[in-house]
Amino acid sequence: MAVKIKDGIYWVGSVDWEVREFHGYETSKGSSYNSYLIVDEENVLIDSAKHYMFEELMEGISSVIDPMDIDYIVVNHAEKDHSGCIDKIVKLSGAKVITNEKGKEHLELQFNTEDWEFIIVDTGDEINIGKRTLKFIKTPMLHWPDNMITYCIEDKILFSNDAFGQHVATSERFDYEVETIEEIFEDAKEYFANILLPYKMLIPNAINAVKGLDIDYICPSHGLIWKEKIEEILNRYMKWSSGECKNKAVIAYDSMYGSTKKMAHAIGSGLSDEGVEVKIYNISGTPMNTIMKEILDAKYILIGSPTLNSNVYPPVAMFLAYMEGLKPADGKIAVAFGSYGWMEMATEIIKKSFEKLNFKVVDDECLKCRFVPKEEYIKKCYEFGKKLSEIEN
Ligand code: FEO
Repeated sequence: MAVKIKDGIYWVGSVDWEVREFHGYETSKGSSYNSYLIVDEENVLIDSAKHYMFEELMEGISSVIDPMDIDYIVVNHAEKDHSGCIDKIVKLSGAKVITNEKGKEHLELQFNTEDWEFIIVDTGDEINIGKRTLKFIKTPMLHWPDNMITYCIEDKILFSNDAFGQHVATSERFDYEVETIEEIFEDAKEYFANILLPYKMLIPNAINAVKGLDIDYICPSHGLIWKEKIEEILNRYMKWSSGECKNKAVIAYDSMYGSTKKMAHAIGSGLSDEGVEVKIYNISGTPMNTIMKEILDAKYILIGSPTLNSNVYPPVAMFLAYMEGLKPADGKIAVAFGSYGWMEMATEIIKKSFEKLNFKVVDDECLKCRFVPKEEYIKKCYEFGKKLSEIEN
């Protein structure tokens, strides 16, 4: 059912309680595809949903107006989680599609758009829909080249699409309805670290453009609508995009017979005893997105792997590929470690990954252990952790 945001403006989205995978992102809390309906002289639908959510989307729209009466569909972003129902809605209503050049190109590559009528907008363009005016601002690469945000001038509502979203399924719609707001900020941080991070350098300009607007609500396309915490989410986006680090170490490892695990914990104890906040994850047992959320603001990144068949352990290889694509901030202090039997290869492969990311690699003789780290060796790893805490990036 629709949820009123202001007179004539409604959330008509769909909540996907079951979705658990989103291009490599394990969505353990589900997600939502937030569509919005503006009822005016011209009725406007802003974004749609994944194709299998069509019935839910129709239910929300139908609780306010007849879906046949939609005049315009704004496509802020053509990824299928927001455009998956567009073809059916265009067919049903004959609505014109408002998007930018890139959005049109992406839609044409995904749908048969022969009969669609497009209205192409650029940054600063405005369209009057009756009592209201919609203004468009392109935000390329947040998350695809086509992304834009739509601002309703009279109602001071920003429809931000992927920006400021969270992958979480909830029965609440607004930030002020949630008791544990810090958990929502953590969800937003995880989303940022796994969706927007590769293009973090573009975030400050986008935030400055948004800060120049008078905003009552930020309505993202996933998760909760921001009302009471607008300034805080904007500030957190600035901070997350800045590469600012805490005195924190993320140790992500995998282990075949427990040797690399022992090294991980010994190094972690050394760091921790020197006052560094330490997070240790077994890569096989942890969603990659959880580890990336912690890497976002960590000063130290330590990755451990046994050598298997002259290579890294397969789950570690997968994590390295995922991390390389997301491009965490340059200059983090990085350590590769692991155990091996007769030929050590894993740490060299991990270091190559660090070099691609412009991390500052720290090496030590105790980081490659042949077979099992005995007590003396564990002490060396512990001492290495302590020394590591003194290195500045
Ligand atoms: Fe939520 Fe880039 O789509």
